[in-house]
Order: sequence, then structure tokens, then C-alpha cells
Amino acid sequence: LIAVIDFGSQYSQLIARRVRECSVYSELFPPTISAKELAKLSPKGIILSGGPNSVYDEDAPKMDPEILNMGIPILGICYGMQLISQQLGGHVEQGQKHEYGRTKIKFESENLLFKNVTNEINVWMSHGDEVKVLPEGFCCLAITENKKLASVCSPEKNIYAVQFHPEVAHTEQGQLIIRNFVFDICKAKPTWSMVTFIQDSISKIKEMVGDQKAICALSGGVDSSAAAVLVHKAIGDNLTCFYVDTGLMRKNENRDIKRIFDEEFHLNVKFIDARERFLSKLEGVSDPERKRKIIGEEFIRTFEDAIKGLGDFDWLVQGTLYPDVIESAVSVGGKAVRIKSHHNVAGLPEDMKFKLLEPFRNLFKDEVRNLALELGLPEEIVYRHPFPGPGLAIRIVGEITREKLRILRDADAIVREEIFNAGLYRDVWQAFAVLLPIKSVGVMGDRRTYSYPIVLRIVSSDDAMTADWARIPYDLLDRIARRIVNEVDEVNRVVYDISSKPPATIEWE
Ligand code: XMP
Repeated sequence: LIAVIDFGSQYSQLIARRVRECSVYSELFPPTISAKELAKLSPKGIILSGGPNSVYDEDAPKMDPEILNMGIPILGICYGMQLISQQLGGHVEQGQKHEYGRTKIKFESENLLFKNVTNEINVWMSHGDEVKVLPEGFCCLAITENKKLASVCSPEKNIYAVQFHPEVAHTEQGQLIIRNFVFDICKAKPTWSMVTFIQDSISKIKEMVGDQKAICALSGGVDSSAAAVLVHKAIGDNLTCFYVDTGLMRKNENRDIKRIFDEEFHLNVKFIDARERFLSKLEGVSDPERKRKIIGEEFIRTFEDAIKGLGDFDWLVQGTLYPDVIESAVSVGGKAVRIKSHHNVAGLPEDMKFKLLEPFRNLFKDEVRNLALELGLPEEIVYRHPFPGPGLAIRIVGEITREKLRILRDADAIVREEIFNAGLYRDVWQAFAVLLPIKSVGVMGDRRTYSYPIVLRIVSSDDAMTADWARIPYDLLDRIARRIVNEVDEVNRVVYDISSKPPATIEWE
């Protein structure tokens, strides 16, 4: 283990991830962790992250000074470097000017931390304060173009520090610097992999949950699916999964989920047919926000009803990923926490008390994908495009009817099938159909038609915050359009949405 003490930097998790990329396990800990608590974990090394504070801020996070005397190799990054300097009697000057972005640094002396790193590199800085006077026993390893301290170390204490961010991609040879720390300084062994993570997680979950009961709302997305399969490996049928058919799912979705989770993985899945209650509540409703609200509330009711008959359960399993974790203070195991609306199972009842089991809180999406593949989940789950909670309801503009759902489902299945067969499924962020509540005139055979248009929405994106329409080959667009008009009744026109986000959004409602 390499422990990362998180002082609130936006890059803290990235540090842990870079260490994991060296096949050494790494996890974040809060600044309040004591030297004693750390010692129990026997880390091979400790990394102090950056953070938004100045060491002079009243509420600036400090650390147990004993940590610096443990004899375990330490690497301080940015705020971590300033904190080390301050706590060991150096002097940190409050910066008048902030330094952000690219800076060139030069090495002053040979050191294991920079083994095989070229003599001058461009690094990424993001700080206000700077270390002016080194603590006793420290020497300078690197300076910036402006002759400022870029890296320091105390060979005797085995403490290293850098003012720049080796964990970000903009720092040249940053990963090499991290590797040097992990292997040459901490002498860690590259024994960690997703397989060991899975084994460790299973034993941790076994120990934490014992013979208590857990539930999980399975959506078919990679995060909840992998979480369910992992927890099932640990506690077997003490895990009950719910899959709610809201009537707003895509074509064959229920069948596929049943096949995979029930038949292949033998999870204890309760399929709840809630089509009637969702669709009747949505009857005559055309306002997008009303639709979302109704679906959110109905999901809660359905969930409540489903668990009523189940007796007591203690744990709620969620596939929360690191980027979903907003309140890092909420602890993983042990404490009962309130489910807030930003959690994955949107809007669970406020007064439901259970402990959260979130085995992926420290992982990034691509790490969970690797883990899911390791667990044997099929690629159709592992690389599944995001599908919004309200489902097809927000892809039928205006009022939802069974007929419109049928049309949209059929058209959407063609879009996905064609994108998949063209080998583009993993290249685009999402690819789906939208049904508009208008009709236009067409001609088929010798007959005049008056039917709905289908909008193709195919976008590229990295994180859904921004998106662009995907430049799909014309021939493929042509085939999708022809198939939809020929195979789906009541559609006589297909249009391609060429709006980016912003100003448009990915979904239409
Ligand atoms: P927009 O339409 O806001 O969507 O550009 C951004 C991403 O979020 C998905 N999305 C949702 N996901 N519940 C979800 O779980 C929702 O209510 C919801 N609305 C949009 C959307 O598919 C896209 O990936």
C-alpha cells in the first residue's frame, strides 16, 4: 500500500491512480489520520497531496507531525511540500503571485526520485505559496527557470517533496517520477492488479457485512452491475438485487438483464414489473420536468414497496465511482448515512437508514470497466452507453403513449444495432433515437403518409459535460434511416441532430 493523504487537491485521486498504474495498491486517507492509524496499515510509502489552501489559512488541514517521524518514505506534492517544510521548521512564504501551468525545471543533483528523468523537463504547477527556507537537513533537488525551489529532500528522513504535480499528464515524465518513488524509494513490489483488488474487496466485504443482508438496485449499467456481481461473490444470496421495469426501458433490455444476471451470474434478482404504475402516472403529462419528477417519485414508491416484503436489510450496495463522490467526508463502512439525491439511486427516501456499501468509491470508470471484465461481465454491459434514469420518457418529446414507446423502441434498436455492427459503438459516447410529437407528410409506395419523424442523436464526448455530434459515415446514416422508415410503422422521416452541447443538451428533454 502507498497511502495518499488527501489535502483536498482536485488531483488527489489521480495520484492514487498513478500508483495503481504501477501495480501497487494506493488509497486516499483524510488529513485527520494519525501516525498510529497509518502504522496499522503498514504502508510502504506515504504521499501528501496538494490542496487548495495556504498553510497559513485558519482552517488549513494539518497532519499528525508524528507521520514525518515514522521512517516511512514520504513524497509531498505542492501543498504537501509546503506542509512538510512548515511542520519541520522551514519557512513558507505566502505568494503574491500564483503560478499556474507549465514551468521548466532543472535538476541540481542526482537523486533516486529523478532516476532516468532527463535533465530539464516541463512540469505543471498550480500554487500560490512557496517554500523559501528549507527545514534542517533538507537539500534542493531541482529549481525552476526563475530559481525557485521545485523539489527538495531529506535523505536522512527519507522525505521527498515536489512543488509541481507529477501526477498530471502535462508534467513530462511524471509517471516515471512516481514509479521512482514507488519502486526505488519505497521499494514496493508490483503485485497489485484488478484480480488482487477483487480478492481483497471480497474479503473486506465478507468481514464488514458478515451475515447481514444487502440490497442493490440493478440498472444494467456497468457500475451497478459490477458492484452487484462483486458483492454477490462475497455474501451470496444475502444480496438481493432489484431490477425495476418502468416500462421506459429499451427493446429487449429486460430479457438481456435476466439472461445475464439471473441465468449466467445466478444473482438473486427480483424483477419488478412496474410498467403499469409508471405509465398510468405519466398519462397526459408532457412537461419534461414533471415527467422526471413523477418518475423519480414513482421509483421511490416502487422501491419502498419492493423492500417492504423483504424484512430487514442493513446495507445498500451502490456502484458509486470516485468522480461521483462529492462529499469525501462520508465514510465507506460502518456509519449509517443519509442517502442524498446526488447518489446513484436517485432520490431514495430521505429517512431510509442503512449503511452504504460502495466498493468502487476509489476507482475511475476505466478501472471499473477493467474490473468488470475481470469479473466476467460481458462487453455489452462493460461498454454500455449511459442510459438516463428516466429512460425513454425523456426521448419522447411531450406526452408518452404506449404506441410512441413501441415506435421509439423499434427505431432505437436499429440505431444501436447498426452502430454496433459498424464497429463504432465504443467510439461514440451515446447513440440513440428520439421521437418527436409532430407528424409530417411523406409518400410510400403510391400512398401519402402522415407520420412521426425520428431524430438520430449520436454524440462524441469524454464526460457528457460537453459533446459534439458524431461524424458518422453517410452510408451508415443512410442505412439507419432506410431501415427505420422501412421497418418501423408510423415513421416516415429520419433527421440527424447536428447540435453540439452546449448550447443543446445530449438528451432532448
Ligand atoms: P444532457 O441531456 O444533460 O445529459 O446533456 C448528459 C448525460 O446525462 C445523461 N442523463 C441522465 N442520467 N438520469 C441519469 O441517470 C437523468 O435524469 C439523466 N438525464 C440525462 C444523458 O444520457 C447524458 O449521458
